[in-house]
Amino acid sequence: MTVVGAGNVGATAAQEIARRDYANVVLVDIKENLPQGKALDMNQAAPVLGYEPAVVGSNGYEETEGSDIVVVTAGVPRTGDMSRDDLVTTNERIVSSVVQEAVQGSPDAILVIVSNPLDAMCHVAKDVSGWPRERVFGMAGILDTARFRAFIAWETGASAKDVSAMVLGGHGDQMVPVVSATTVGGVPVRELVSDDRIEAMVERTRKGGGEIVKLLGTSAWYAPGAAAAQMVDAIMLDQKRVLPCTAYLDGEYGIDGLYMGVPVKLGAAGIEEIVELELSEAEQEAMRASAEAVRDVVSVLSGS
Ligand code: NAI
Ligand code: 2OP
Repeated sequence: MTVVGAGNVGATAAQEIARRDYANVVLVDIKENLPQGKALDMNQAAPVLGYEPAVVGSNGYEETEGSDIVVVTAGVPRTGDMSRDDLVTTNERIVSSVVQEAVQGSPDAILVIVSNPLDAMCHVAKDVSGWPRERVFGMAGILDTARFRAFIAWETGASAKDVSAMVLGGHGDQMVPVVSATTVGGVPVRELVSDDRIEAMVERTRKGGGEIVKLLGTSAWYAPGAAAAQMVDAIMLDQKRVLPCTAYLDGEYGIDGLYMGVPVKLGAAGIEEIVELELSEAEQEAMRASAEAVRDVVSVLSGS
């Protein structure tokens, strides 16, 4: 499999995947020596961590030929006060060129997009590749949901493993944490935590990316890299996991012709099913508002 972009998120995802030991990983970046150096370092960690040293770094696409999955993290991250949407023009150009190159040698691959603004970059990847929605989708919901789950675990004193949640919608400040489907050990979170505290955690989740940008001056990578690797696991190992991913909606959730975060069944064929949750009236309204926000960004794309 291939990871394009050997920066913070791409290198983290590549190492997570390499550690699973089920795939050869090719790490691609335009910066000379960067992917080669990081690949060498990851291979030298292999004997210590117990996996085979099978990571290749490259500035081209020859080594990527025949990949089953291409994860696209190439692009510019947020800095300072930038919103994800400020990135649109630069990253449209980068994602477009990366997808053009990557699909040539791997015509049967699955594209997992990570670059921001995520929902819009999925549109770019689908348009450029011309591939069906089952094989072109994005990572955001697992990350946003992981943030929500961590906050709920801290609030309730429960293990994060026992917090079950889904954050849907676009990967922006209008994302939709589905409180009605959130449980701790099977108990609805509304029975355990006050409405005020839930609202505070919802708000912190929505601003979760920005909170890290404020602390670090750039965007997050450990949780994003782990989230991308979880999607790769589900596909490579045909796990049929139901995970929140950014999928092209064709009427599901009342939304048409737009990439949005929804629960999907992920297996060897990519998106094998879009799962439609029953949402409360308020959650449906929040999905509509989030869809409008995504459409605004998509309309900025030069190819739109
Ligand atoms: P980074 O700056 O550390 O790495 C990006 C890498 O892309 C750089 O090494 C750069 O040289 C490379 N690159 C740029 N143009 C390229 C091209 N044409 N071909 C190959 N490589 C190219 O950035 P970081 O932190 O890894 O973030 C990457 C992207 O992922 C950003 O757009 C960021 O906003 C996004 N992101 C998305 C998340 C999500 O939930 N979907 C979460 C975190 C980040
Ligand atoms: C995040 O949510 C910036 O999209 C990135 O951390």
